[in-house]
Amino acid sequence: MDKIIIEGGRPLNGKVAASGAKNAALPLMAATLIAPGLHTLHNVPDLRDTRTMLKVLETLGAAWTRTGTEVRIDTSRLTGAEAPYELVKTMRASVLVLGPLLARTGYARVSLPGGCAIGARPINFHLRGFEQLGVRTTLRQGYVEAAVDDSLRGSVVYFDSPSVTGTENLLMAAVTAEGKTVIKNAAREPEVGNLIDMLTAMGAEIQGRDTDRLTIHGVRRLHPAGTRIIPDRIEVGTYLIAVAAAGGEVTVTDCIPAHLPSLVEKLRGAGVGVVEHDTAITVTGIPSGKNKGPDLRSVDIRTMPYPGFPTDLQAQFMALMTIAEGVSVIHETIFENRFMHVAELQRMGGNIKIDGSTAIVKGKGRVGLSGAPVMATDLRASASLVIAGLAARGVTEISRIYHLERGYETMVDKLRGIGAAIRIVRE
Ligand code: EPZ
Repeated sequence: MDKIIIEGGRPLNGKVAASGAKNAALPLMAATLIAPGLHTLHNVPDLRDTRTMLKVLETLGAAWTRTGTEVRIDTSRLTGAEAPYELVKTMRASVLVLGPLLARTGYARVSLPGGCAIGARPINFHLRGFEQLGVRTTLRQGYVEAAVDDSLRGSVVYFDSPSVTGTENLLMAAVTAEGKTVIKNAAREPEVGNLIDMLTAMGAEIQGRDTDRLTIHGVRRLHPAGTRIIPDRIEVGTYLIAVAAAGGEVTVTDCIPAHLPSLVEKLRGAGVGVVEHDTAITVTGIPSGKNKGPDLRSVDIRTMPYPGFPTDLQAQFMALMTIAEGVSVIHETIFENRFMHVAELQRMGGNIKIDGSTAIVKGKGRVGLSGAPVMATDLRASASLVIAGLAARGVTEISRIYHLERGYETMVDKLRGIGAAIRIVRE
């Protein structure tokens, strides 16, 4: 089992560039299925999850090539409409091929994703939405079959909660549906906006970008288009929190500061220096003796849909709060089981109490954590353990790091590049 070894206590200094967003690359790759032809995507991160999505597209008959961060996908000929269990179980975002296949062929058979470490992760909102557009969905042997007799018909779709991939799936199904579709309580994440930009470039007619109400006027067909993937705001947020925890001064480049409004506010509230530039953010972990009070203050967070505090940064921020001064109350409102990192942080000395979907973190000050062997349980929990290892005294060993490699491009190299004593031991 590969491991990451970190020798903690070193400040981070220098520059690190953000990669393209995993959660934009996945829906945009799926969207290439809607229009036959050769699509070019720029700034595509090379991750375990993006490789899995390319395998799913291959299974459906698409061909692809990668040159650096440019990926060209040819969807001229589709030979199938089924996303198999063995791929979907490794990455639930494979369900994002449902909408495009319905738009292209009117039929799709996709394995139900099943749960994952952070929750049951149902797709009932997706399926209800498709039914509104005239799709018949049948659940059989762990697969969902979605079929429409003649063509998709525009309708009003309402989400009980603003599902990100639910909004993306319905957008991709509605672009060639007959008539008008309105999606109410739509997700407003920047990754949804990136998908809207791509679909518009392909000839779709969509209004309401960045709002919770999207209106789509169906068109007869779309054509291939080139699109650039936006920077990964969760990766950027992870590095900002890492510097806040380890100390030092780092500039994260190739990013969009406006995509992290809530995290920037919370870091400043905790006493961390944050300067926003056009396409970069500079963060200062331990102000060089500037302020008199504690250098890291406890702040409360509540995870919310965008532009609220991202659930994907909750685990990372909790690691930071274990070494602040004071008590931080962390509410996780999006997923029912997203505290898997707590037990591991406790093994490193974190003083955390869980009460339902709330965690109470008693900060122990900058020397609060000590290195230990810990185990990653899911993608963002792994990032939380890396941050804790960077701030802890002594050596931390993290096992099951394949979780991390799903969503962070060359994280160990990027952290070494700004001074971390971190390495991978391949076993
Ligand atoms: C997307 O997942 C992201 N993944 C997640 O990132 C992210 O945590 C999540 O949005 C919330 O921001 C991708 O974009 C590929 P949801 P998604 O549908 O779309 C419930 C990461 O670490 N729900 O917005 O699956 C659901 O259970 C990953 O990169 C239903 O009940 O999340 C959850 O409680 C983790 N029925 C809430 O809504 C549905 O049909 C929000 O889920 C759909 C969702």
